[in-house]
Amino acid sequence: MLVQRYFDSRQKLVEEALDSYLVPPAEGTSSIHDAMRYAVFSGGKRLRPILLISTYEMLRNRKNIGTLKSLLPSAVALEFIHTASLIHDDLPSIDDSNERRGKPSVHKKFGEATAILAGDALLTKGFEALTDIKEKKKALTSINILARAVNTRGMIGGQAVDILAARKRIRINVLRFIHLKKTGALLQASMDMACAMYNAEENTAITLGNYALNLGLAYQIIDDILDEVGAFEFLGKEPYEDSRNRRSTYPSLIGLEKSKKTAEKLLDDSYKLIKSMPNNDILVEFINMIKERLP
Ligand code: IPE
Ligand code: IPE
Ligand code: MG
Ligand code: MG
Ligand code: MG
Repeated sequence: MLVQRYFDSRQKLVEEALDSYLVPPAEGTSSIHDAMRYAVFSGGKRLRPILLISTYEMLRNRKNIGTLKSLLPSAVALEFIHTASLIHDDLPSIDDSNERRGKPSVHKKFGEATAILAGDALLTKGFEALTDIKEKKKALTSINILARAVNTRGMIGGQAVDILAARKRIRINVLRFIHLKKTGALLQASMDMACAMYNAEENTAITLGNYALNLGLAYQIIDDILDEVGAFEFLGKEPYEDSRNRRSTYPSLIGLEKSKKTAEKLLDDSYKLIKSMPNNDILVEFINMIKERLP
């Protein structure tokens, strides 16, 4: 199957699942449910759900969209929680971003109080979705994986240290930690959850988790680079935000050229981890897609 067709079909599957978990849109209202819908359907790439689905299909050695129903609660959970993290990340007290995905950020459109609650609600609803996994042992394992990826030792921990590190001169290893946590942890959880649904061998899960961490770190370094060089078309928001917030970024600590080299090296390392796995075409494509974002 053509890679583009694969991405389009899996993305459509995810869009339908997300829609089915949200309260239907109501004419002329402006409630928290509208804010949640607005945030979820404002043009996200659905990287995490597609990473989950394609990893599962790779492990099964079979691409068949008709057999993916059992994965949809996990796909929805990942995207709801990712969306919640972006709503809160954009708030005036965190990154103070007026735009997201080329549109007004949730707090600009619905107000700050509703944005806080919409983030809380999506985070909660993500975990609720996981209780729909039919095999209860897998449901519990998935809840555990995702909770650990999001908590203060995961994504939220990364965001917390990111805030603390603003206006300070930090070491590159601290920044590496921030990026691995704030962006890498959720990507790693996507692969871990796929492994849990498939009952993959522990070694396979560890290798795929490391692939995802490298990918996540590279992705966030490239996000830092795109902000620094002002690449609006990729960012979907005003650039130069990190320097306005005096955030530590890879380019601010080691310069643009070295940041690019570091991202390329991480992507190569990701490739090495999966290159001998059968049916790895979509995971290789993820690496290429991220490489193509490099200016
Ligand atoms: C944006 O993530 C936040 C970062 C980790 C840099 P994505 O690039 O996956 O965001 P959407 O969901 O596609 O907009
Ligand atoms: C955001 O990092 C990571 C999370 C939301 C967890 P950034 O703050 O760099 O992401 P953008 O640039 O707003 O998308
Ligand atoms: Mg941020
Ligand atoms: Mg931000
Ligand atoms: Mg950024």
